[in-house]
Amino acid sequence: MKVIAVLGSPRTKGISAKVTNRILDGAVDAGHEVLVYEIDRIKVQGCCGCGYCKRKNSDCCIRDDLKGYWRNLHKAGALIVSAPNYFSQVCGPMLTFMNRHYCLTNKDHTSRLQNDVKLVGVFSQGMPKPYEAAEKNYRWYLECLSAQSMQIIDSLTCSAGMPPEEMQALLDKAYEIGKNL
Ligand SMILES: Cc1cc2nc3c(=O)[nH]c(=O)nc-3n(C[C@H](O)[C@H](O)[C@H](O)COP(=O)(O)O)c2cc1C
Repeated sequence: MKVIAVLGSPRTKGISAKVTNRILDGAVDAGHEVLVYEIDRIKVQGCCGCGYCKRKNSDCCIRDDLKGYWRNLHKAGALIVSAPNYFSQVCGPMLTFMNRHYCLTNKDHTSRLQNDVKLVGVFSQGMPKPYEAAEKNYRWYLECLSAQSMQIIDSLTCSAGMPPEEMQALLDKAYEIGKNL
């Protein structure tokens, strides 16, 4: 199946990319096709609230780099979203990216996503331990996407400040998630 990963950090060698890439290693070893978008290197406009998607029951009409993403998402079996924590929230570009999924809901509130998409979140932060304010926002973020008929499979919180053994356990878990998608 097709697995899409969206790397949300501008630091493509950062911790969220490292953990996400480990999920992708597992997915490749399980025989899946992997497609990676780096949010900082593609053009993603904000939702302009034009209502075209609701009037036409259509994917978003904005002509930017998400055009190809919608096509791929309709054929995908899994979506991995990763993002660094900025001020206890998912970073701005990944919020903009998530907002655009509004187009996947029809006028009658049904989702236009016909395929089952498994959803995994990878969130990185400076704080070495998960903390509630941020965890709440990570959950909210995944729930907004899962409202489009995506099924939340797992969510990983990582930090460069984690003790090495905890980081290794997280990377091992990430690989297993990918392998079992
Ligand atoms: C603008 C900004 C705001 C940040 N705010 C927080 C924060 O509120 N809590 C936190 O734990 N870390 C915070 N950090 C640290 C980042 O979350 C951390 O460096 C990041 O997760 C590293 O991820 P990456 O290596 O994938 O880029 C902030 C960093 C930046 C640049």
